[in-house]
Amino acid sequence: MLHFPVLLKESVELLTSNGGKVYVDATVGLGGHAYHILSRREDIYLIGIDKDPYALEESKKRLSPFEGRFSLYQADYEDIEEVLKAEGIERVDGILMDLGVSMLQLKTPERGFSFKENAPLDMRMDPKQKLTAYYVVNRYKERDLVRIIKEYGEERFAYRIAKAIVGARRKNPIETTKELADIVEKAIPKGFYKKIHPATKTFQAIRIEVNRELWHLKNALLKIPHLLNPKGRIAVISFHSLEDRIVKQTFRYFEKEGLFELLTKKPITPSEEEIKQNPPSRSAKLRVAQRV
Ligand SMILES: C[S@@+](CC[C@H](N)C(=O)[O-])C[C@H]1O[C@@H](n2cnc3c(N)ncnc32)[C@H](O)[C@@H]1O
Repeated sequence: MLHFPVLLKESVELLTSNGGKVYVDATVGLGGHAYHILSRREDIYLIGIDKDPYALEESKKRLSPFEGRFSLYQADYEDIEEVLKAEGIERVDGILMDLGVSMLQLKTPERGFSFKENAPLDMRMDPKQKLTAYYVVNRYKERDLVRIIKEYGEERFAYRIAKAIVGARRKNPIETTKELADIVEKAIPKGFYKKIHPATKTFQAIRIEVNRELWHLKNALLKIPHLLNPKGRIAVISFHSLEDRIVKQTFRYFEKEGLFELLTKKPITPSEEEIKQNPPSRSAKLRVAQRV
């Protein structure tokens, strides 16, 4: 699968230039960043985490040239302490988080992440999890749908969309991504969104809700200072303002507490060349901090 790891050179360079030996890729995905972390120096050991077992199958193949120098865990990154315990270590030299969905998830129609593919409404990164997009779309109260679509999608037509969803599901359950995308499209004034598909923000919102993405991010970040060696680094790549705000505020809080030194006063963003090669990278922001 064609996959361009976002802000690859910038993130791996900033993460590993502290000369450390043990790094965690907490969102190992298809192993793109992990491969480059392991390529940096022969004495680096990498612990890869992902809650998606299919992603781990791919990263295992991708990292096979480094056999013996990495281990992979299916877990939520919020449970990073347990993963480190299983490895028999308390602290590491760097942690990378490349947030959001992977190409594998977006391009596998039956996972139900994409409005471009027709599939059952699923959107679970961890297929063992109970909550699905079907449940959110067909069972949540209208006011909760409004809140989610407004807050997590930053969608100005949240009220109209939620109303349209509730109206449609009264007749028949909404089963597929295509049905949902059509309902959303009809609820938005024609031609309003020119650069993105009208369902983009609503799909993002439902995905964030299904996977409790912001909740897990907040909880994970709060644990990081205790898991880093002195001069250990945390690098986070975010893809929308909600994630970036959480990262920025948490880093600032730890800086005030004297735990972190910020290595990126302003976030690093992709070059024009990268955006041209990989348009979804355009919203990415990289922030890096170092343990004092
Ligand atoms: C953008 S992709 C990472 C791509 C990876 N850096 C690469 O180069 O292949 C994000 C990955 O994070 C995983 N993920 C998202 N939230 C997670 C969480 N709370 N815990 C563990 N993994 C998570 C997703 O399943 C997905 O595979």
